[in-house]
Amino acid sequence: MEKRNELRSSAPLLDAYLSYFEASHTPFTIPGHKQRASIIDAGLGAVVDTDIPLYGGLDEIKLTNQTLKKSEALAAKLWGADFARFSTGGSTHANQAVIFALGQPGDKVAISRTAHRSVLSALVLAGLEPIWMSPEIDSATGVPIGISLTELQRVLKENPIAVLLTEPGYLGTLSDLKALISAAHEKSIPVIVDAAWGGHFGFHKDLPAHVIAEGADALITSVHKALPGYSASALLLAQTKYLSAERLEQSFETTHTTSPAGAPLASIDAVRALLQTRGSELLGKLIENVAQFKLAVQANFDLPIFLSPSDFAPGRFDPVKIVLRVQQLGCSGVDIERALIEDGVRVEMADRDTIVFLATLADTEADFQTLAMKLVPILKKLQGAPRESATALSWSVIPQIATSMREAYFAETEMAPAENAVGRVSADLIAPYPPGVAVVAPGELLTEQIVKGLVASQKAGVRIAYATDPTLNSFRVVKPR
Ligand SMILES: Cc1ncc(COP(=O)(O)O)c(C=O)c1O
Repeated sequence: MEKRNELRSSAPLLDAYLSYFEASHTPFTIPGHKQRASIIDAGLGAVVDTDIPLYGGLDEIKLTNQTLKKSEALAAKLWGADFARFSTGGSTHANQAVIFALGQPGDKVAISRTAHRSVLSALVLAGLEPIWMSPEIDSATGVPIGISLTELQRVLKENPIAVLLTEPGYLGTLSDLKALISAAHEKSIPVIVDAAWGGHFGFHKDLPAHVIAEGADALITSVHKALPGYSASALLLAQTKYLSAERLEQSFETTHTTSPAGAPLASIDAVRALLQTRGSELLGKLIENVAQFKLAVQANFDLPIFLSPSDFAPGRFDPVKIVLRVQQLGCSGVDIERALIEDGVRVEMADRDTIVFLATLADTEADFQTLAMKLVPILKKLQGAPRESATALSWSVIPQIATSMREAYFAETEMAPAENAVGRVSADLIAPYPPGVAVVAPGELLTEQIVKGLVASQKAGVRIAYATDPTLNSFRVVKPR
């Protein structure tokens, strides 16, 4: 099949990246590899010789051509935003940049407990205090279906300066965003949406609208997750009615590297051009392929084994998301993952009850057929008696706050053996990863549910991240004064 190469003409950064390699250069600038490290070692060269920076690569050292600015303006226009920045530090950095721009240390923000750890770390850095909102849980499937309007209204009474949401959630569900945004705007406060997994939204009629179109004030998305961008490439888009463009710009630069790599930036530009020119066509095919894949696998089983759009209110589930409901099969998701790895398939996330497969524009019909062919025999072999739907630890903890997150983060700490940790105040943020949602954050009580739940999840084969003692035999806690 002939390879297409059309994006370049409408993507200034992509064009700059490709043009660099079409000319000859004598760089006496960073990066130190000078795109010639292969003369030192072929392996090192294979890794670094296609790397060019923004400064002196995509543009002149003094940014005379303003190529990045031009491409960011194109992105702002496509998403209907009045502010856009490209990040090489992932949604982690984009979250930090927005949160730094919100208020003053000590201010409170309303935040969904489904937030990724990067959002919590940003709150610690910015000195903002969370007012937690718990997600509603769908009784049939046990999955979180977003923040209810009642829950937002409850926390709005505490006068937060902003609302921070995670949409879609890790399992593909969404809150009723329009209602939440309008309630926040009635109080003249901004709604910041971490849409790390929703970069494709708004570019096909059968997908949810993107959150800027829904009225949100900021959209953060990873271009390397649901979209085919370079690792850690991310996009920050904003409307500046309730946010300050000057503060956003300052915060973005405060927290971003001063040496951004060219490839991630060029990839964001190229993906923007792709969505603009062929987004609907390619996403339509992907939606169809995912639906066909689910039907093909489902045909082998009696109970519904995938989350599907019809499980939720219209527009409240990402039809591209592939979430296997392992409890319906009565086996362990981690065992399925293990068998798949042996057969050369990697999944995005697996715990006892759930497996998430990431499908993107880069997957072909043949890839889905291969996956179905490999998956069905494994599921048939491991299948047992179905279990009740259970809500995973990440979605079921109601935090018990003992002290401010920031105070606990900087407090004097000690290690407490697991058997004595219940009732102590955690100094660590601990999260099964993925999804990277805190089960406990600094300043919160370690309860029996948390300590036992983390240990059990780890034993079941889930990766538990960020605990000072990764064995979970002890927990880092705040030292009593
Ligand atoms: C909801 C959410 N936000 C932010 C991030 C961080 O994204 P990145 O890996 O692009 O820094 C993740 C990562 O998984 C995430 O799931």
